[in-house]
Amino acid sequence: MTALTACSPGSPAPSPTAAGLPTAAGSLTPSSTATPSPSTLSAAATPSGVLTTEHAPAAETSTAPGPDASSPAPAPTAATPKFSLTDPTSPWVVVNKRRPLNPTTFAPADLVQPRVRLAISGEASMVNSTTAAAAEKMFAAAAADGVIMTLASGYRSYSTQVTTYNGYVNTDGRAAADTVSARPGYSEHQTGWAMDIGDGGGVCSFLPCFADQPAAVWAKANAYKFGFIVRYPAGMQAVTGYVHEAWHLRYVGTDVATAMATRGIATLEQYFGLPAAPGYL
Ligand code: DAL
Ligand code: ZN
Repeated sequence: MTALTACSPGSPAPSPTAAGLPTAAGSLTPSSTATPSPSTLSAAATPSGVLTTEHAPAAETSTAPGPDASSPAPAPTAATPKFSLTDPTSPWVVVNKRRPLNPTTFAPADLVQPRVRLAISGEASMVNSTTAAAAEKMFAAAAADGVIMTLASGYRSYSTQVTTYNGYVNTDGRAAADTVSARPGYSEHQTGWAMDIGDGGGVCSFLPCFADQPAAVWAKANAYKFGFIVRYPAGMQAVTGYVHEAWHLRYVGTDVATAMATRGIATLEQYFGLPAAPGYL
């Protein structure tokens, strides 16, 4: 069987070898300090990060980051803006094998091409406007540190994901494809909040060895400062459903990204107290 790697809109490539089982799946407590930056988001959360029922189901409200016992947050009010885990326009939307986009054919209304070094053209060179602004800052900071970063794959429409996913299925079969590529309607790339990065020379693009390239090393250490997380970390396939993708960055806002980094929380599922999503329901 031809091995696969993740996320690339192009042809399947050799697969990661170190995708293992999670070491802490479900064992971490959701953050108590997650609050998106009002300056970059359309609404502000409470200091506790508690979600509203306006966007989030009750069950998710109860499992969202809660107040710290030592510094209780003000009770939410009807006027308190919050962030949804289900609305694809929300920076906190969690998309995984148990959580398809709603609607499944969602397309962002504010796609733009960030002013960064591009390794792709067309729709894949775009992300939503918030993600673009953050990417421009992050790429500039990386460059200032001597690290060249490229945008290798951003937005993918539902129909593009059909082609991408089917390419993996046709090459390696459905089971293998599902470890590296989302089914249509289940990809973060369709939200506009995700992008795959490369390095200046295209070395190891979409391959396991990308994890050791300067762009990936820099991103792993610094992306949180700009609101990005490495969405599919090594050894967390049983939580995220996907093998390690050192190149796949997801914008969630600086407060959530920083809280995850400082608390050592590897996945959005763990951070928000959501069920692991190793496979489709
Ligand atoms: N490679 C990621 C999981 C995607 O297809 O969205
Ligand atoms: Zn990706």
